[in-house]
Amino acid sequence: MAEHVIVTNGLVRRFGANTAVDDLSITIEAGDVFGFLGHNGAGKTTTVRLLNGVLAPDSGSIRVLGMDPATHGPQLRARTGVLTETPALDDRLTARITLRLFADIYGVPEAQVNRRVDELLAMFDLSERGDDKIGGFSKGMRQRMALARTLIHSPDIIFLDEPTAALDPVATREVHELIRDASSREGRTVFLCTHNLYEAERLCTRVAVLAHGRLLAIGTPSELAQRYGRQQRLAIEVAPSQVELAQQVIAGLPWGAIATVENAGSGRVQVQGIPRTEVPDAVNALVAQGIGIYEVTREEARLEDVYFALQAQVAAAAGEEPVAAVQIEPHREVIA
Ligand SMILES: Nc1ncnc2c1ncn2[C@@H]1O[C@H](COP(=O)(O)OP(=O)(O)O)[C@@H](O)[C@H]1O
Ligand SMILES: [Mg+2]
Repeated sequence: MAEHVIVTNGLVRRFGANTAVDDLSITIEAGDVFGFLGHNGAGKTTTVRLLNGVLAPDSGSIRVLGMDPATHGPQLRARTGVLTETPALDDRLTARITLRLFADIYGVPEAQVNRRVDELLAMFDLSERGDDKIGGFSKGMRQRMALARTLIHSPDIIFLDEPTAALDPVATREVHELIRDASSREGRTVFLCTHNLYEAERLCTRVAVLAHGRLLAIGTPSELAQRYGRQQRLAIEVAPSQVELAQQVIAGLPWGAIATVENAGSGRVQVQGIPRTEVPDAVNALVAQGIGIYEVTREEARLEDVYFALQAQVAAAAGEEPVAAVQIEPHREVIA
């Protein structure tokens, strides 16, 4: 049976009248890359702090690596690494000295320090800059540095709190590779807070979706897509010159479907929100406008669809507009 490295039961944390984490029960297994998805203020960072014993819960129980963080904080933190949302690095120190300093703080045995520091500098592509001050590093290098520092004591679990939120696409991709390495090559469990669905879909073996402190769904990305991504997603290929017309036709259909162009000039149009029973009518409507169709394929629902469906449910329940749908499109364009 897989080892449960993180288990929470009915976890609650309030700040005054605000319930930041509301009855959270999750289980994470060794080797998972667990995506913790949610809008700003959903309760992700608070959860990370609870799991590391930096905050105490108001109620509910937590076990991380078999320990209660509230009573075994130091022992636990010796086996976890946390990359906070805005990691502070000392610009005056070199990369190598920073890592040595953290090796010291985390009690890495002296005989192992040099090897571990060299290993991390190499893994993070910083070997040649090891003796340069961090003050001269780019944003991407700084984040690689912060991630290397998080791994100095070879923790069993790493918590990464929105590790790519401030990075450009190239640096984002590098950090994604490093997260993959930490998981597959080094066998660590990863707890990844993100509001970037593409990141979650690319990296995570399991995801949980959080809104206003409450767990909305948990499972593998494909399980969630099957369970919650009910609407049909189609890819339709038309002549590149007819893409705009196709978009107009689809937008004019009665089901509120959305059509987006996959790559400019490609002729491939992504359509979301057509009920399966209405697909023939949609195709007929395109043909009736003289649009030549080369291919229609059904695509699996994505984490994005799940996320929107769940957010819409929450919004409907609360009688508000859907929350935090905004960051998603830009990420898609820059990363894909
Ligand atoms: N130290 C704090 N004091 C008061 N309120 C807080 C504190 N930390 C977080 N909160 C509140 O708790 C909620 C969850 O915040 P947070 O866990 O930071 O969300 P996320 O990381 O998902 O953006 C928010 O409403 C936030 O304002
Ligand atoms: Mg946060």
